[in-house]
Amino acid sequence: MCINPALHLFATPPFAMAVPIPLATACSPATFTAPSVFGAEILSIDTSLVTNFSASVVSAFRYTQPSITVSDATFCNVTVTYTHPGQNDHVIVEAWLPVDSPGWNQRLQAIGGGGFAAGRFELTYEGMKGALGDGYATITTDAGLGSSQEPSEWALLSPGNVNLYKLRNTGSVALNDAAIIGKSLIQSFYGEEPKYSYWNGCSGGGRQGLMLAQRYPDAFDGIAAGAPANYWTELFASMQWPEVFMNSIQVYPHHCEIDAITALAVKECDGLDGVADGVIADVDACLAKFDPHKTVGKPLNCSAPNALSSISKAAADVIKASWEGPFKGNGERIWYGLNPGADLTGQGPYAPPGGTLGLATTICTGERCGPFTFPLSDFWIRYFVAKDPTFKIGNVTKAEFERLYRDARREYHSMVGTDDPDLTDFRAAGGKLVTYHGLSDYVIAPKGTLHYHEAVRSLIPDSNKFYRHYDIPGMGHCFGGPTGQPTTMFDQLRAWVENGTAPGSSPYDLTVSGQVQQRIACPYPQKTKFEKKCGDVADANCWSCKGKL
Ligand SMILES: *[C@@H]1O[C@H](CO)[C@@H](O)[C@H](O)[C@H]1NC(C)=O
Ligand SMILES: *[C@@H]1O[C@H](CO)[C@@H](O)[C@H](O)[C@H]1NC(C)=O
Ligand SMILES: *[C@@H]1O[C@H](CO)[C@@H](O)[C@H](O)[C@H]1NC(C)=O
Ligand SMILES: *[C@@H]1O[C@H](CO)[C@@H](O)[C@H](O)[C@H]1NC(C)=O
Ligand SMILES: *[C@@H]1O[C@H](CO)[C@@H](O)[C@H](O)[C@H]1NC(C)=O
Repeated sequence: MCINPALHLFATPPFAMAVPIPLATACSPATFTAPSVFGAEILSIDTSLVTNFSASVVSAFRYTQPSITVSDATFCNVTVTYTHPGQNDHVIVEAWLPVDSPGWNQRLQAIGGGGFAAGRFELTYEGMKGALGDGYATITTDAGLGSSQEPSEWALLSPGNVNLYKLRNTGSVALNDAAIIGKSLIQSFYGEEPKYSYWNGCSGGGRQGLMLAQRYPDAFDGIAAGAPANYWTELFASMQWPEVFMNSIQVYPHHCEIDAITALAVKECDGLDGVADGVIADVDACLAKFDPHKTVGKPLNCSAPNALSSISKAAADVIKASWEGPFKGNGERIWYGLNPGADLTGQGPYAPPGGTLGLATTICTGERCGPFTFPLSDFWIRYFVAKDPTFKIGNVTKAEFERLYRDARREYHSMVGTDDPDLTDFRAAGGKLVTYHGLSDYVIAPKGTLHYHEAVRSLIPDSNKFYRHYDIPGMGHCFGGPTGQPTTMFDQLRAWVENGTAPGSSPYDLTVSGQVQQRIACPYPQKTKFEKKCGDVADANCWSCKGKL
């Protein structure tokens, strides 16, 4: 039995009221009782007291919270290493337990991973710094995958043999383990469990949040899941689809053509919500009104020597296919595509320098453009579906692609699909969930998140009592674009969990021609409406949420 020496001190009269708990001295392995996790064996607990920790974290990397500066914080950095006996794995959970500046706010905020990283990577650490600055104890897990962000390091035991335990760990099991371990460390260190526990993640971290709500309804009281990468097998099909489509027509348009059509769509659809501000807010109205084929023949202004001088029919076909998403040979939809306005090439006006190329871009050298394979879908199909590191996805036909999709679904849906709409246990546990999705997301189809929301609602008609979804016009994948984060959303989730106040509108900033304007996001299916009488389009008070929830 390890007892926090600080608690001894606290419990011994007459010092009980006078002496503050010296948590700093409690930051030692002896303080921590080995967490009890069914199916896991704790191998080691390491601690280090981190002092004078300072950091600035921008809101983009905190997803639902404002930017923050952390100054001279002191915290106990605890790493727990454990294994699931028989699986030959080695999982690390890292916890930061605030000691001073700020002190602990009696809450846990777990931060999710992204891409193929379960956690313990740069973006997770940014979120943890922010959580620490607000006084949360914060945790992350690597799910036993190690430090690589690419599955090439762990996916295959040997060609043909997928490491299913690791996939299962990152898919679900390690997420719940981390919650149990985090709460146990908190109990050992502070002498009490967290009053409330939260999950905050985007993309892969959003999927993790949904998995927790679906399968481990007691792990967290509140879950903020941004741009969730759920419907995993469909999602990867949708990422790969633009290239498959280009292969099928054997034309690879220059990115400049695709970017020009996107720009024309934004121009034509911008005002459909009643306000011209450079972003498409009404996606369905845009899809109904804007026909990419009407742009064929319009002049192009590409400086690249290998670009055409006018928009080609092939480029319009590629855009249309990218917006529609993948279909089977029999005409049945596999999944959704991205929205008009999304940067399909990774080279549009809001592309970060050195960022990943987009789903529908091509590689051009000299006069010729050829295929570009999107890394995430390539990893998935190569390592997990084909199980062959030398597999070339680039040349698959539509029929082969459809077969790979069906194989993937048959084999992995229950491990990583994360699409179970039955949240009745989460609801019964008192859990609250918010999802949000940038409508200009260039990796994960926003319509997929709506699909999940609708699936939950059709199963649980009053699901808005514990689950709300927000579309964020103009925001890219988790961040980026002219739109900022909904920076109060996390605290709105907290108020819902802790005080029962359900979140309504949630403000964000939109930059229009260099000027910052205020906007609000509304819980779906409410629509955001500008009150013309009110006058100032840049004032959040002139916007309201209309319609029934
Ligand atoms: C922490 O940093 C401040 C200046 O930023 C310095 O004055 C102080 O000595 C440092 N404390 C420790 C314990 O390093
Ligand atoms: C916390 O400890 C782990 C394990 O030693 C280490 O990898 C990590 O860098 C530490 N983090 C901080 C912020 O000190
Ligand atoms: C190309 O540039 C010309 C001259 O600047 C302009 O009139 C035209 O609208 C541009 N076309 C496109 C597709 O941007
Ligand atoms: C497609 O196949 C051709 C010929 O076999 C090969 O040269 C090319 O590299 C392949 N493309 C991709 C993207 O794999
Ligand atoms: C809950 O309500 C109390 C009393 O109004 C308030 O002080 C507290 O900040 C609220 N908590 C949250 C998370 O909103």
